[in-house]
Amino acid sequence: MVAAEALRKRFGATQALDGLDLAVPAGTVCGLLGPNGAGKTTAVRILATLADADSGHARVAGHDVAREPDRVRARIGLAGQHAAVDENLTGRANLRLFGRLYHLSRAAARHRADELLERFGLAEAADRPVGGYSGGMRRRLDLIASLILRPQVLFLDEPTTGLDPRSRGEIWDSVRELVADGTTVLLTTQYLDEADRLADDIAVVDHGRVIATGTPDELKSSIGDRLDVVLEDAAAASGAAGVLHRLAGAYPALDGDRLSVALAHGSVRIADLVRELDRAGVAVGDVGLRRPTLDEVFLRLTGRPAEAGEGDAATGSGGAEADGAAARREEAVR
Ligand SMILES: Nc1ncnc2c1ncn2[C@@H]1O[C@H](COP(=O)(O)OP(=O)(O)O)[C@@H](O)[C@H]1O
Ligand SMILES: [Mg+2]
Repeated sequence: MVAAEALRKRFGATQALDGLDLAVPAGTVCGLLGPNGAGKTTAVRILATLADADSGHARVAGHDVAREPDRVRARIGLAGQHAAVDENLTGRANLRLFGRLYHLSRAAARHRADELLERFGLAEAADRPVGGYSGGMRRRLDLIASLILRPQVLFLDEPTTGLDPRSRGEIWDSVRELVADGTTVLLTTQYLDEADRLADDIAVVDHGRVIATGTPDELKSSIGDRLDVVLEDAAAASGAAGVLHRLAGAYPALDGDRLSVALAHGSVRIADLVRELDRAGVAVGDVGLRRPTLDEVFLRLTGRPAEAGEGDAATGSGGAEADGAAARREEAVR
């Protein structure tokens, strides 16, 4: 439903897209995951016919974005990071206005507005001016405004950046609702947990190109499991690190009383580990094997953490930074 091949775009000295390839099957959610400046918005703008690529090709909903932009536009919706709704109007009036702008009849615009407000949980707030809405409600209204024409493909450019965790959850529910209708979604995000929860497939973007693709599970599997050890007493950290290094063949990352190390699949038995730690006199509160987080995947792929830019209250950023800090300590130990 979305196919991009070798897209390039330069702004002055900045190569925003440097040969980006992408393939999104119909009815799936693709998460375009990357840090600030990776080229996500540039890619979305080209796919949504708002900008031209310098070179490369892209087809959306069966039509070439450069040669048949009108046909593409008739089949897509776009909701961005900055809500496009009018503060002075009510939610319902905003949606009716969008409907009229999209050339629906007055009756059809009314009907579609009511239907969408009901479906996406904004019916109660629908007759209040948008100026009094929370950030999350505005963003949700913006999202449903992009659905008025029942797009086959929906582009969501960082739909939850800057939102609090509860509002993010509401947007996620709305996206799931859409996907249940068969809409194909291309979602950009710098939040690894967001891609993890919503996307069928993830394309990790860095410096204008896709550096890895796969399902969230595949990406996590590609770097092996993680072994976590929580110490009873952080003072035993160096003794524990020695044991982990001997068994796992790598130095663990240390974060307070928690050590974490990547494992080749099945390379260490928990029973052996516990026995060795005991022998070294290390008291352990908890030991566990777990799949790596997407933060750890990103770090492994790029050599640096996926820092969520805006310094907001969203849950994804804290995790990314904590893992980044742990990884830097891991490097320092080596
Ligand atoms: N209109 C523009 N003029 C100049 N530079 C731009 C413009 N749009 C994007 N860029 C640059 O291109 C790079 C990619 O930007 P963007 O696609 O917005 O990344 P992302 O959405 O992943 O944060 C950045 O270095 C950005 O500064
Ligand atoms: Mg962007």
